[in-house]
Amino acid sequence: MSGFSIVEARGIRKEFPNMTAPVLDDVSITIDSGEIVALRGPSGSGKSTLLNIIGCLDGPTRGTYSLGGRDVSTLNRRERAWVRLHYIGFIFQSFHLISDNTVLENVTLPLYYAGLGRDEREGRAVELLERVGLGHRMKHRPAQLSGGEKQRVAIARAVAGRPRLLLADEPTGALDTKTGNEVMDLLLEVHAAGSLTLVIVTHDSEVAEFCHRQVFLRDGKVITDGSSHAAHA
Ligand SMILES: Nc1ncnc2c1ncn2[C@@H]1O[C@H](COP(=O)(O)OP(=O)(O)O)[C@@H](O)[C@H]1O
Ligand SMILES: [Mg+2]
Repeated sequence: MSGFSIVEARGIRKEFPNMTAPVLDDVSITIDSGEIVALRGPSGSGKSTLLNIIGCLDGPTRGTYSLGGRDVSTLNRRERAWVRLHYIGFIFQSFHLISDNTVLENVTLPLYYAGLGRDEREGRAVELLERVGLGHRMKHRPAQLSGGEKQRVAIARAVAGRPRLLLADEPTGALDTKTGNEVMDLLLEVHAAGSLTLVIVTHDSEVAEFCHRQVFLRDGKVITDGSSHAAHA
């Protein structure tokens, strides 16, 4: 069942300096709390740019965006960082783990910035790493892990702060099909376990099939926005 709208973006335009055309042009999207949404579209269509705005990594040039009922479109960098730390988890295609840190340290670091004490940080990280099947890899460095294992660490890190919104930019893009499916299963598992809203940028139609809804972008505009199971509705 749908709850309240966690994401409400209206008329989003995004321009970058030295670009003639806007990268996002009048994009509106509403996402209900608890939904799983796939963002699809050709390379260069603006998916990552939109995900970054939804995730408060970047702000729109024009338009309004409210996250959890709060207008975040006019926040400055510092304020956006605070919102991300407390409400948002990110997962990237290339993992973005800190190579000098152990697996455990990678997961505890954002909790340190969120102000949690040492016991709470380690307790949460150990529990999550066990849940993603990496209890035996906690002292390893990212370079010693397979791609699938790295993405599991990234998922544990992304959910450690108990975000409301989990955003994944082509999370299976660097993985083989079998490993990608395992990562997708894990994302669905963490979605089911927490009261999470999940937005996944993906090229993979199989991954998109797991989502409640698919939104297609082309040339910076939303061209279709509908349930992947519309035929059964
Ligand atoms: N920081 C930036 N500066 C200038 N152009 C950018 C920037 N980020 C993205 N773009 C451009 O915006 C367009 C959309 O990029 P992106 O959102 O990454 O697309 P997608 O994720 O769908 O492949 C591309 O033409 C890209 O080159
Ligand atoms: Mg992209």
